[in-house]
Amino acid sequence: MKVVVTGGAGRIGQAVVRGLLERGEDVLVMDMRVPENKQLKFVCADVADFPQVVNNLKGADAVVHLAAIPGPWRDNPHEVIRVNVNGTYNVLEACRQLGIQKVVVASSINAIGLSYNKERPRLDYLPVDENHPARPEDCYSLSKWLGEQIADAMVRLEPNMTIISLRFHGVVSPEWYGRWRQYARRDIPGDFKGLWGYVDIRDVVDAVVKSLAVTWKGHEAFFICAADTSSAVPTMELVKAVYPDVPLKREFQNHEGLFDLSKAKRLLNWQPKYSWRQEE
Ligand SMILES: NC(=O)c1ccc[n+]([C@@H]2O[C@H](COP(=O)([O-])OP(=O)(O)OC[C@H]3O[C@@H](n4cnc5c(N)ncnc54)[C@H](O)[C@@H]3O)[C@@H](O)[C@H]2O)c1
Repeated sequence: MKVVVTGGAGRIGQAVVRGLLERGEDVLVMDMRVPENKQLKFVCADVADFPQVVNNLKGADAVVHLAAIPGPWRDNPHEVIRVNVNGTYNVLEACRQLGIQKVVVASSINAIGLSYNKERPRLDYLPVDENHPARPEDCYSLSKWLGEQIADAMVRLEPNMTIISLRFHGVVSPEWYGRWRQYARRDIPGDFKGLWGYVDIRDVVDAVVKSLAVTWKGHEAFFICAADTSSAVPTMELVKAVYPDVPLKREFQNHEGLFDLSKAKRLLNWQPKYSWRQEE
């Protein structure tokens, strides 16, 4: 299968490209920065420029769209919106025009408005699932939410497309775990806006690979997070301290994560395998 990976020279992109090549896929990296690995097939193109996107996606069987400005403070807000929202529209519209039916898009847990909110995020219930209302505030979170809305519109226009929005949590490399174990956070509130989540980069690659294998049509979004929290404090203690007013759909065991991952298990056959608590 010929797969174009936009943003394939980036942090997640490099791991995804490696994972796809290991599985025998024919991969083309589309990025504005040259990949470190000079052996890769590479085209320099700007996802915010529609003609460049459509020209370079010709002949692809599937696209993994990762290219974006990956946070609200990395550029001016209007630039984050321009690149991220136009980029997602251009990739999805080019795929529709070219008859490319399978597209995996990097969304974020922040599509619903979490880590970058000014105050404690307003939650209707826990664990959070994909039906939870979205209330993004900043440019980055909004760009990810709008990307998912564009995907919804695209499958209304072309019902034969499969578009999968993967809402990654903060992506962590296994090399970091030694330090995490050494300095495990015992403080409350800690990362309360992000609901103390994270995801291992190997699980991210697996989620992309599994997404490329599905046979259903339409657009669906999925939380892609570790099964546990990044905190050394038990989950019920964190919840009682920071979100005592939020209705719980169930009690949480030990360090169980606050994102419901059952939809990804059901529709992608994906479950997280890695935790910072495991000794390698
Ligand atoms: N890293 C995380 O923790 C995390 C969490 C949630 C979602 N995401 C999303 O995953 C994706 C990849 O993130 P990352 O951490 O690898 O970021 P990164 O910055 O390492 O990689 C992004 C890549 O996109 C490229 N790019 C930027 N603008 C472009 C443009 N206009 N045209 C073509 N290429 C362009 C960059 O050159 C870079 O190589 C992003 O969409 C990001 O929003 C990342």
